Amino acid sequence: MTIPITQELVEKKYALYHKNINDALGQCFDKESPVTLYEPARYILEGKGKRIRPFLTLLASEAVCGSSDNALNVALAVEILHNFTLIHDDIMDQAELRHGRATVHKQWNINAAILTGDMMIAYAYELALQAKSNRHAELVHILNHANMTICEGQALDMELEEKQDATIADYLDMIAKKTGRLISAALEAGGVAADATPEQLKSLVLFGEKIGRAFQIQDDYLDIMAKDGKSGKMAGGDIINGKKTYLLLRSLELSSGAEHDLLNSIIVNKGIGAEKVAEVKTLFERCGVLEETAALINKDTEEALTALDNLPLVEGREYLKGFANVLMNRDF
Ligand code: IPE
Ligand code: IPE
Ligand code: MG
Ligand code: MG
Ligand code: MG
Repeated sequence: MTIPITQELVEKKYALYHKNINDALGQCFDKESPVTLYEPARYILEGKGKRIRPFLTLLASEAVCGSSDNALNVALAVEILHNFTLIHDDIMDQAELRHGRATVHKQWNINAAILTGDMMIAYAYELALQAKSNRHAELVHILNHANMTICEGQALDMELEEKQDATIADYLDMIAKKTGRLISAALEAGGVAADATPEQLKSLVLFGEKIGRAFQIQDDYLDIMAKDGKSGKMAGGDIINGKKTYLLLRSLELSSGAEHDLLNSIIVNKGIGAEKVAEVKTLFERCGVLEETAALINKDTEEALTALDNLPLVEGREYLKGFANVLMNRDF
């Protein structure tokens, strides 16, 4: 008899694995010296990261082979790679706050942040190579492909800041690269750790691409809409920096008159003063873009769910679907 996987069961497993992942991450980067290299790595990993990617790696493994025992090192590799991208992203975005604390380059300095990030990439590969698997080359290839794709996405993100005529299609392509690929790679690598077939990997990647897109759109939404302090980042940072998010690009299409002019000034001036954030937020609320954003996130998630139907283990598959729903409704 199969037990139906309720939302409560999904959340219970997430809480348990979140703790296991954090315990294992706590064992990493235990070298004392140089202190300006290893301490920032410990610091970023002590923060309140959601551990979404490693959780997906473990669930993918369970959906393929019924166990995640051999996938833990792979999951840690993915999370460490992700945290390297956060450190460098915060330099690029000139962000001062992450997980409610000073960003690494603010707490130390830019050079320490660059070096720590570089070291974390290498550390991640070492962990992947320590996984019990006879498919290490594939694992490294997946991490490499994800890493290069994130760099492409981040380059496009920067180019988009300068581009006056950015389209929603430009934005969707950029987020697939900067965010979608690492999420799909987390799932793919979990599949490989479980010795998945090419068809099974294809399903996991497709699922990851869909939830990855929804995840970044939600991140952009929460950048301005998250309840006080809940994002752990500076509220409205994307607007202040003139980021071409779905919210901004679509609200430009939906608005007119003075409202449109205000939104357009964010594009023309490549950002706006922090004192205007509340006004822009009200505008987003009024023009209908929030409903459209929620609908887009729902649609991507629904499509993601259907991608999983050919995975062999029903229980693991249902956990993946349940977690996609948790992410779709997240306010964290
Ligand atoms: C932040 O990712 C960067 C994006 C791709 C939006 P997360 O929101 O997963 O960051 P943490 O790990 O939970 O801090
Ligand atoms: C995240 O994009 C992309 C990567 C970290 C690769 P954001 O710049 O929106 O991420 P946050 O909001 O700072 O976490
Ligand atoms: Mg950022
Ligand atoms: Mg960024
Ligand atoms: Mg963001």
